[in-house]
Amino acid sequence: MTDFSTIYKLSVVALIGFIQASSSSSSSSSSSSSSRCPVLECWFVQEKAGRGGGLTGATTQEKSLLHIRTEAESYDPESQRPPSDIDPNRIYIITDPAATLCHRSFNAPRGSIKKPQCEINPFLPQPSSLRWVASLTDSALSPIYLQADWFSASFQGLDKQLGVSAITRAPTGTKEHEVILSVTSKTMSAKTRLGDPVTLDCGFWADSSSPLVTSGFSVEWRYQTRGDGRLVLAYDGKTDRLADTHEEGATLDFEGLHKNGNASLILEEAKVRHTGTYICTVYLPYLLAQVAMELEIVEPPSLSLHPSTLPLAVPGQTVKIHCEASGFAPLPLELSWEFKGADRTTRALGTGSVSGHRQAWDGTYSQSTRLELDLSKLDLGRGGEVTCVAVHAGGTRRASMTLSIIGFSSPSIEDSMAMVGVALVLYGLIKFVSWTFTGSGPEKTNGQEKKEN
Ligand SMILES: *[C@@H]1O[C@H](CO)[C@@H](O)[C@H](O)[C@H]1NC(C)=O
Repeated sequence: MTDFSTIYKLSVVALIGFIQASSSSSSSSSSSSSSRCPVLECWFVQEKAGRGGGLTGATTQEKSLLHIRTEAESYDPESQRPPSDIDPNRIYIITDPAATLCHRSFNAPRGSIKKPQCEINPFLPQPSSLRWVASLTDSALSPIYLQADWFSASFQGLDKQLGVSAITRAPTGTKEHEVILSVTSKTMSAKTRLGDPVTLDCGFWADSSSPLVTSGFSVEWRYQTRGDGRLVLAYDGKTDRLADTHEEGATLDFEGLHKNGNASLILEEAKVRHTGTYICTVYLPYLLAQVAMELEIVEPPSLSLHPSTLPLAVPGQTVKIHCEASGFAPLPLELSWEFKGADRTTRALGTGSVSGHRQAWDGTYSQSTRLELDLSKLDLGRGGEVTCVAVHAGGTRRASMTLSIIGFSSPSIEDSMAMVGVALVLYGLIKFVSWTFTGSGPEKTNGQEKKEN
């Protein structure tokens, strides 16, 4: 009987374990694919009230909580107890029908240190004076609709997988917001090789029931880098044209723009000067939302060695090799030398004398290093492979050449014999050649003349 009950207990334990394992795996798979809508902690940032209004630039930061849902009525906020460190007045419900904010990158694993980032600010709808946006507000006047609480919220998913910026609206004084316009990007930090085509992702969604949507939208891409900002292109939704382009080879996919709100920027060919921050802004009349993303052009160097082959070296000699790394971006580059002997062991030869870097017309850099191998001090046996190593963000590059050394510290008997042999052969050859020219040369011409006669 005891045996039977043990087996029974064991099988019950196994069954429970199985159920737990399968249920936990199914719940984790559902959270990664269909994604529950998250509850996001968010900084509520606003300008300090009073004393000079917004001119002082002083802001206050408060913790807030956003309950995300995709449909109105689908969530009951009373069912969850608010955290004690958050003011109940700063708890909001946001309805996002496009489910952009339910992306898995906004669902941090429980207990993880990494969290999605979020900031929310009060937003004041106002007409834009930009040429390619102003036309949108010509007719679409809906002051009653605009009289509401508006927020501008920006989100960044885990590991920068997704950036979202949303404009939300709530009837004045209520806490239930609806997303009216959202702009997203999946290329928050993009890296591309030189010369490749680049697509910087930007998509938008607008609430089709909003009266603002009927009069169209505009799109603007700006470029920013330290101290330099410029318009890349502007799309005027009213005229359905590019209003301005300041970058050759930059365009939008117009079909995708109208069909799916795909406002991605396409650059025909990546150049070094394209490295920087890009801001995609989508305008509706009175509203705008924007996401900023980073593009970096990363190109590893090409290496060339001078001389291209080494003559036989003799012990005591100093061998000089020059390694030129060119066409890379960005800085820095780490140059060094390695030696691999006949026994296949590798040893470091240091950096050599590394030059400063130079920049070419296309923005790429070049840098070189010079190796001086003093064979009287270094014992490299009978030689081996000398390699120039360039470590770069775009990858490590190597260039090698063979170094052959005659003999060891002093020429061996065999080498001396071989050298004497070579000298003898050379001597014989010279003798033979000079004999042929002085002796038989004129006779041949005589013979030819005879034949002609
Ligand atoms: C948006 O357009 C770009 C460029 O045509 C394309 O590469 C990308 O796949 C599109 N994105 C979506 C979500 O359709």
